[in-house]
Amino acid sequence: MMENKDITVLIIHGPNLHLLGKREPSIYGSFSLNDINSKLEEKASAKGFKLLICQSNSESEIVDKITNAEYDYLIINPAAYTHTSVAIRDAILGVNKPTLEVHISNIYKREEFRKKSMISDVVAGVITGLGVDSYILALEALPLQQ
Ligand code: DQA
Repeated sequence: MMENKDITVLIIHGPNLHLLGKREPSIYGSFSLNDINSKLEEKASAKGFKLLICQSNSESEIVDKITNAEYDYLIINPAAYTHTSVAIRDAILGVNKPTLEVHISNIYKREEFRKKSMISDVVAGVITGLGVDSYILALEALPLQQ
């Protein structure tokens, strides 16, 4: 198995996640995207991983990142594209890298349209509804034992 110091994890935050802290705080909490990223950096350095972090509102930029960046694991919160994007699903299938899907809110406890994820059945695991901890626990789970 690879050593942790040789592992690069790509973190992708999808559309509107740059608004965290201001956006619907009763659903998404009062922490900002910078707060999440600092916690991720802290956890990554404790585990010895390298992190690449990106936030994008554009589906095509997210597809480009998934397919062009160099990384060993992907942790992705596709945000609204979770429910619509065949392109992001196909990119994940195309590169075939171990991927975890995360959501801040519990997508199964909200509107009907959020209950369908286009990627859940092509990723290794899903963590939903645990706020910032959804991301931290995803990083904690790496490297995957499978
Ligand atoms: C989200 C849930 C999505 O339904 C929503 O569109 C988001 C954020 C979450 O992290 O809870 O933007 O992915």
